[in-house]
Amino acid sequence: MLGDQIQHADWKKEKHVPVIECPDRVPADEFFPVKATLGKEIAHPNTTEHHIRWIALYFHPEGAKFTYEIGRFEFNAHGASTAGPNQGPVYTHHKVAVSIKINQPGTLYALALCNIHGLWESSQEIGLL
Ligand SMILES: [Fe+2]
Repeated sequence: MLGDQIQHADWKKEKHVPVIECPDRVPADEFFPVKATLGKEIAHPNTTEHHIRWIALYFHPEGAKFTYEIGRFEFNAHGASTAGPNQGPVYTHHKVAVSIKINQPGTLYALALCNIHGLWESSQEIGLL
């Protein structure tokens, strides 16, 4: 199962774990900001050879059968160029900021892919006021 390959850890000790920042409780049907980043405590490299490819965000309503995708954010610039690796003019930082609204409590999930260290996830419960 692919799910068995997804790694979990404490983000304060493991640089690959996505960190979700959002309010603990929000009003129903009002947009609020959600940030997802990685390497908040221990920086993850961002080089042509070693970088984060994408972070995907999901919402699972409490008690629901299905999970909903919020967005999938690709980080495509990592210093590659004709001059060679890490010689390019642009890098994308692995950080996402979106606005969402919900009408049920549930759990936000972030899934990140490192090009050489695989899939990592984290989650954050979110309630309604
Ligand atoms: Fe990595």
